[in-house]
Amino acid sequence: MIKIGIIGLGYWGPNLVRNFSSTEGVEIKYLCDLDPKALSGWKKMHGVKLTGDYREILRDPEVDAVAIATPVSSHYALASSALSAGKHVLLEKPMASNVRECMELIESAERKNLVLQVDHTYIYTGAVRKIKELVAAGEIGDILYFDSVRVNLGLFQHDVNVVWDLAPHDLSIIDYIMDRRCVAVSGSGVANFGGGLENIAYATLYYESGAIAHLHVNWLSPVKVRRILIGGTKKMLVFDDLEPSDKLKIYDKGVDIKNGDKDGVYKALVQYRTGDMWAPKIDGAEALKYECAHFADCVKNSKRPATDGAMGLKVVALIEAINSSIASEGQKIYMEGNYI
Ligand SMILES: NC(=O)c1ccc[n+]([C@@H]2O[C@H](COP(=O)([O-])OP(=O)(O)OC[C@H]3O[C@@H](n4cnc5c(N)ncnc54)[C@H](O)[C@@H]3O)[C@@H](O)[C@H]2O)c1
Repeated sequence: MIKIGIIGLGYWGPNLVRNFSSTEGVEIKYLCDLDPKALSGWKKMHGVKLTGDYREILRDPEVDAVAIATPVSSHYALASSALSAGKHVLLEKPMASNVRECMELIESAERKNLVLQVDHTYIYTGAVRKIKELVAAGEIGDILYFDSVRVNLGLFQHDVNVVWDLAPHDLSIIDYIMDRRCVAVSGSGVANFGGGLENIAYATLYYESGAIAHLHVNWLSPVKVRRILIGGTKKMLVFDDLEPSDKLKIYDKGVDIKNGDKDGVYKALVQYRTGDMWAPKIDGAEALKYECAHFADCVKNSKRPATDGAMGLKVVALIEAINSSIASEGQKIYMEGNYI
C-alpha cells in the first residue's frame, strides 16, 4: 500500500481525494489544508487524519507520497520540503512560479530517486492519448499547426494571469504530441480591470519544424469553448472537449501543391483534398482516475511519469516567455536552454 497525504482541499484538491480513494494500492492517510473550513467536510472519512500543518505529514515515516493542490506560489516550498523528507510528489500544474524553481525540484527528485509527477491532467484524457497515438503512427503526417481556443467566464485568479491559469493545458498537450523544439514565442494580452493580471491573452509559438501554434485564453467570454484544431500534411483533426460524444474528429482533408512553371512564371497549383470524416472511439474514463493510477504505478515500480518534471519545466519556461512578450508589447522572445 502506498500511503499518501493530500495538501490543499480548495477547488481542485477534492478531485484528487475522490480519485485516490478509489486507486488500487493507495491509502489516503492525511488530508491537509490551512483553512479549517476546507477540512471540516472530510471529518467522516474513515481512517484519515485531518491536519492544518503539512509538516505533520512529512514527519510521518509511514507516508510514501504527497499530492499538492495549493496555489502556484506555494508549489515550490511545499514540493521541495516533501522531496527533502523523502516523499514522492504529485504536484499541480503549473509546476512552480519560475524556471529556476522547476529545475531545483527536478534535481532534488533525481538526487533522491523520487517520483515527481506534474498534474497536467489533459495528457491523461482518452482524447489526447488517442491524438498522440495517431500522430505517432504517422496518420496525421507532419504537424503544420496547432490552434486552440480555451475561453469562458471566470474563474478570475488572484495571484496569476490567464496564461498561468489556462495555457498549461495547451502547452502540455503540444509538448506531448509535437516532439519538436519551440524556438520562439510572442504574446499579447490585456488586464481589463487593472491589477496587472491579464484576463485575456493570445500567444503564438514558432517551432523548429516550421509548425506554428496559436493559443487564445480568456476569462471574459460569454460562452465556454474548449476547441483544438491540428492540421497535418496528411489529415486534420478537431478536438472539442465540450462535445458529449465524438470529442475527436479526424478529417481526411488537405491540399496537395504541385509546382508548375508556365511561361517562365512560377505558379503553384493547389489541389484540394476532401475525403471522409471519422470519430475514433476514445476511452471515456475520468482522466484523473487514470492519472492517479499512473502515479501509483510510477511510485511502486520506479517509473518516469508521462507528465514528469521535464514537461512541467518546459510549460513554465513557455509561460514565462509568453508573459515577457506580453510585457514588451508582443516582442518575439527566443527560447534558450537545452530543456526546451
Ligand atoms: N489539473 C487541473 O486541471 C487543475 C484544475 C484547477 C486547478 N488546478 C491547480 O490546482 C491548484 C489549486 O487550485 P485551486 O483552484 O484548487 O485553488 P484554491 O484556492 O481553491 O485551493 C487551494 C487550497 O490550498 C490551501 N492551502 C494553501 N496553502 C496551503 C498550505 N501551505 N498548506 C495547506 N493548505 C494550503 C488553501 O487553504 C485552499 O483551500 C493550482 O495549482 C491550480 O492551477 C489544476
